[in-house]
Amino acid sequence: MQRFIEQCRKAGDVLDIHAEVDPEFEAAAITAEVQARGNQIVVFHRVRGYDIPVVTNVYGCRHRLARILGVAAGGGDSVSQALNRHIESSVGSRSPATAEASQSSGRQACRLSQIPLLRYHEEDAGRYLTAGVFLVRDPDNGVHNLSFHRGMYVSDDELRISIGPRHDLGRLQARAEARDAEVPATILLSASPALFVAACTSIPPEADELALAASIAGAPLATAPAHTQDLAVPLDADIVIEGRILPHERRPEAPFGEWMGYYIDEKQSHVFAVDHVEARPGAIAHGLLCGSAEDLRPLEASTAARIFKMLNQQFPGIVDVVCFPTMLCTVISLRPAYEGHARQVLLAAVTAHFMYSKLCIVVDDDVDPYSLEDVVWAFVTRARPDQRALVLGDLPGFFRDPHKDHWGRLALDATIPWGRNHEFRRKSVPGRDRVRLTELLAAQPSTSQE
Ligand SMILES: Cc1cc2nc3c(=O)[nH]c(=O)nc-3n(C[C@H](O)[C@H](O)[C@H](O)COP(=O)(O)O)c2cc1C
Repeated sequence: MQRFIEQCRKAGDVLDIHAEVDPEFEAAAITAEVQARGNQIVVFHRVRGYDIPVVTNVYGCRHRLARILGVAAGGGDSVSQALNRHIESSVGSRSPATAEASQSSGRQACRLSQIPLLRYHEEDAGRYLTAGVFLVRDPDNGVHNLSFHRGMYVSDDELRISIGPRHDLGRLQARAEARDAEVPATILLSASPALFVAACTSIPPEADELALAASIAGAPLATAPAHTQDLAVPLDADIVIEGRILPHERRPEAPFGEWMGYYIDEKQSHVFAVDHVEARPGAIAHGLLCGSAEDLRPLEASTAARIFKMLNQQFPGIVDVVCFPTMLCTVISLRPAYEGHARQVLLAAVTAHFMYSKLCIVVDDDVDPYSLEDVVWAFVTRARPDQRALVLGDLPGFFRDPHKDHWGRLALDATIPWGRNHEFRRKSVPGRDRVRLTELLAAQPSTSQE
């Protein structure tokens, strides 16, 4: 990850903060402000009480994700299409995902309390590890899974972690628990961008997510054996925490400010018993503001990739799929080929991801699917709400929903009425792309009086 930060620094995409900052709220507040203004990566070189610096907002914008996935600017490719290509090349790939490194990891043993963890939101119950990539190997088939699970710091020996029951790790843990078994897991903090993006991506449980990371990285991942479990651990992570998820053990965790922008109340969460912690000299700790651009952009990209693939298998004319401002909203850019095409795509889109496709909108390809303003403009100028809005009732959505707030779907067809393209052609002002505003302003005559 540090190599990637260095590349971004050279491109002027990093804000280095050398003043001392408080891990209690202050680093999070600065991160939120930066995300609202310039969206650069933020490196906090001095964090009160710690020797290790902190980095935030590494993955908070699409152009950095595009760089990681090798998407060339203006190449007509999107992040979700590039991600799909990596998924396809890794699923069933025969080339090895990992290779044992000849050199040691260089990481040295330390305590969990030496790793700077931040407190983010006013009501958070404590300091949290939010950007740790959990690496586990399924004991039944040897397949590796990568995923994120926030961890509330309790002591050098314990994190309380949140595991969604429908995620692969949730299912694996439930299977182990039925046998009264622990789940050995290793948390990679400040791992390579390839590992981070692979951890955001859900692929079939029988497919190996280390192979996906290797495909994104463009080479097998160099590894070294773990200290306390039988696992090959990627070298490319500054900080590694080895431990076990205990069976039949749940302890209080949260409140915590969650991805939808609200707090989750205290709940009974899994216990991660910490066995070994190590950090590389010169390590930097990745902190991530939950629900911010850095959390949502990568998850939206992987959700969009999945929906793009499903729609593209059934329909012609799918140009792009974008999920934002949270995964719950999906915008499909379509080149309609026949009357009713957009409506068919809409119906398929609402079922393409049962957890997230709460609001789906289809637009023509002259509309920018990344701009909600443009998307809403298309709907209000091209569509009759009484004919082009479908409300589907009684359909469960996001799983943690005791009051059924996420039941139902809204689907909007915002495409041009069939056969009337000429009337709805967008007006344009010629020559805008040739305007050189800075040069024009520099050429202004001086207004000062002599
Ligand atoms: C930064 C970040 C934090 C996340 N935190 C959690 C979490 O605390 N608990 C959880 O169950 N899922 C969390 N997720 C979601 C899953 O880790 C993620 O969707 C992952 O791809 C799961 O995929 P899998 O089902 O293939 O393992 C988080 C995702 C991101 C990007």
